[in-house]
Amino acid sequence: MNIILLGPPGAGKGTQAKMLIDTYGIPQISTGDMLRAAVKNQTQLGLEAKKFMDSGQLVPDSVVIGLAKDRIGQADCAKGFMLDGFPRTVPQAEALDKVLADMGKKIDHVVSIEVANSELMGRLTGRRTCKACGQGFHVMFDPPKTAGKCDKCGGELFQRDDDNEATVGNRLNVYDAQTKPLIDYYQAKSLLRPIDGVGAITDIFGRIKAVMG
Ligand code: AP5
Ligand code: MG
Repeated sequence: MNIILLGPPGAGKGTQAKMLIDTYGIPQISTGDMLRAAVKNQTQLGLEAKKFMDSGQLVPDSVVIGLAKDRIGQADCAKGFMLDGFPRTVPQAEALDKVLADMGKKIDHVVSIEVANSELMGRLTGRRTCKACGQGFHVMFDPPKTAGKCDKCGGELFQRDDDNEATVGNRLNVYDAQTKPLIDYYQAKSLLRPIDGVGAITDIFGRIKAVMG
């Protein structure tokens, strides 16, 4: 099963992806996580990407298309994969179509997690993520049992650099201008599966499983 998780910043793509890994045994491909790893390791790519990410802009298409293509070609994606945060522009979606066609693969479902902008700011400014395993939490909506510590692995929790109010505002605008057109793009291909992204995290997971069959 090859799926795309589509949705605005804070919709719950990463949260749901972590649950889907366990249920379906397919890897999560998050271009955001890959870019943050490059920033942390201070690679050439990371140094270039950081200025875009810190201001809430998208990293250039050519960079992320290359990253995603290499990752989809790896052995653990043979039985399926889920794309989290890619594609995010129409040119990225078109490039993905070509990459998959060349590999003899296709997308089965585009799970579009719908959450109103008014809810997203609070979700993002309260997010905390585990440094060690990447598990996400929220200080109010999904708090860890011990403040600052991961329930899963005991790792230290941190706040993302782009989760401040000013940058989140930019990210939401960028989503509306550049990523929202993908809803029509995938609707036209009959791949769009809209999901109400408001409610308990486990309920939303149930809605996603229902469309995946
Ligand atoms: P990326 O890392 O992809 O960030 P994003 O798309 O902005 O999405 P988020 O990770 O912020 O949100 P999410 O939907 O995963 O939410 P989460 O599950 O954590 O991208 C970061 C940057 O990298 C971009 O700005 C860009 O610069 C660059 N980039 C990445 N990909 C790119 C691409 N393809 N092209 C160009 N540039 C690219 O949940 C959020 C919070 O809400 C958590 O605290 C969680 O606990 C909580 N929560 C989850 N579900 C619920 C619920 N049901 N109720 C209440 N709270 C909830
Ligand atoms: Mg995420």
